[in-house]
Parts: sequence; C-alpha cells; structure tokens
Amino acid sequence: MSDVGASGYGRALPPDYDTDPGRFDANVRATDEFSRVGDLHPLVAEQLATLGPGGVLDLGGGTGRLARLLGERQIWTVVVDAARHVSQAPPPRVLGDAGRLPFADGSFDAVAALWMLYHLERPGRALREAHRVLRPGGTFVACTSSRTNDPELAGVLPDWGRRTTFDAEEAVEVISQAFHVTQVISWDQPFVTLPDREAAELFLRGRGMSEREAHRRAARLDTPMSVTKRGVLVWARRRSRPIGKG
Ligand SMILES: C[S@@+](CC[C@H](N)C(=O)[O-])C[C@H]1O[C@@H](n2cnc3c(N)ncnc32)[C@H](O)[C@@H]1O
Repeated sequence: MSDVGASGYGRALPPDYDTDPGRFDANVRATDEFSRVGDLHPLVAEQLATLGPGGVLDLGGGTGRLARLLGERQIWTVVVDAARHVSQAPPPRVLGDAGRLPFADGSFDAVAALWMLYHLERPGRALREAHRVLRPGGTFVACTSSRTNDPELAGVLPDWGRRTTFDAEEAVEVISQAFHVTQVISWDQPFVTLPDREAAELFLRGRGMSEREAHRRAARLDTPMSVTKRGVLVWARRRSRPIGKG
C-alpha cells in the first residue's frame, strides 16, 4: 500500500497536545457547547457495541472519550496515544506511536482511529499496524474532517482548504487500500451555532489559534453565526490477505 503524505501531497497537522493542551480542551468545549449534534464518540461506541467486540484498540484515543463510553458497555478497550494526556484515559492505556504498536498480530476485534490519522506524515504505517493487530474480519473505524470544513470561517482560518494527509476527500480511498469499506457516513450540515463573539473565540482557539489570535480574528466575524461541519466516518473490515509495504 502506498503512503499518502509520504509522496508530499497532503500535509500532516502538527500535534500540539503536549505543547498547548489548552487548545484541545477548547476544541472539546466548543463542540460540547455549540454543536447541535456533539461529537461522534457515542455513535461509534453504540455501533461497536452492536458488533459485540471482545477487545477494542483506540488509536490516538487521547483522553479516553471513546474508551469511557465502551467501558460503560463492558467492552474492554486499550488506548494508545502519543501525547501525555493519555494518562487521563481509563486503563489500560499506552503512551506510544500508532505506527509501531506493541501488540501481537490479531489481538483485537476492532480498531478505532478517530480524528487522528491527519496528524501522521504516513497514515499508511498506522493503517498497516491496525490491520496487523486486528483479527481477520475485524472492524476498523476512522473519521476525519473535510479540507473545506467550517467554510464560513475560510477568511479567518489560515490553512483553510489545505489538503491534509488524511482528509474526508481521500479517506475512503486511503482506507480501501488496507480494508474492505462497509459503510461511509458523510456530513455537510450547519451543526454549529456560535451565539456571540466569545463563542467564536473559543471555537477559533479550538481550531488551532493562540488565545490572542483567536480573540483578534473572532472580532472580524458577525455573530451569531452558523458553521457548516463537513467530514466523514468510515467503517471497514479487515481483509484476510496481508498488506504489502508499497
Ligand atoms: C484530535 S485528537 C483525538 C483524540 C481522540 N481520538 C478523540 O476523538 O477524542 C488526536 C489525537 O491523536 C494523537 N496522536 C497524534 N499522533 C499520534 C501518533 N503518531 N500515535 C498515536 N497517537 C497520536 C494525539 O496525541 C491526540 O490525542
């Protein structure tokens, strides 16, 4: 399988979870407070529970949002994450790299990679590892944003429209190289309402800006405003044949 990103097409989003933990907190708070639909974790946990998996690996599982929901459904989940905030996830948790997993072949019934593959220069490496540690026929699920996510903010988001190493425009194609895609859920809806400038500031902070920059740019926006969320959730199954290094 070829490595998207390795060929220099998309750009990996630099992870800032250790250097600027307040940025991710702002992102989570903005979604919780201003999104009509919230995040995808409950939906993913629900669907994984219906599959009845014995063990789930959550790649880039962060602070354990998915793992907590799966735990409530008695599903054993291991979180692997490269940032120190993994210590907030429920155990078992591993501080490690999604591209080099410390697990034996076929150890898991399902692997999730929610909002994380765009941080990798070579998402193909992590996908190969996910494939290796999944049992044959096991479930893989990943989600990501479109490069044209939040179009109403195009004028204030510096990298708006830029291709990443794993965006909604290419997610199905990339995952198809390693897995058999079974379901694709896409969205393009005004899910977020920012009632005032303070809300816009929090939202921009969550989208990667310093507090100061978020404050400055929020002043350029007309609030209240709706923000259109664009992205994709992809469900897949592990193929039986091994993946070549490509
Ligand atoms: C946007 S957060 C998503 C966290 C979690 N999946 C969620 O949905 O709440 C992306 C996560 O990917 C992690 N990450 C980035 N690069 C990684 C890598 N090479 N290996 C493992 N985790 C990584 C970050 O540390 C961060 O916790």
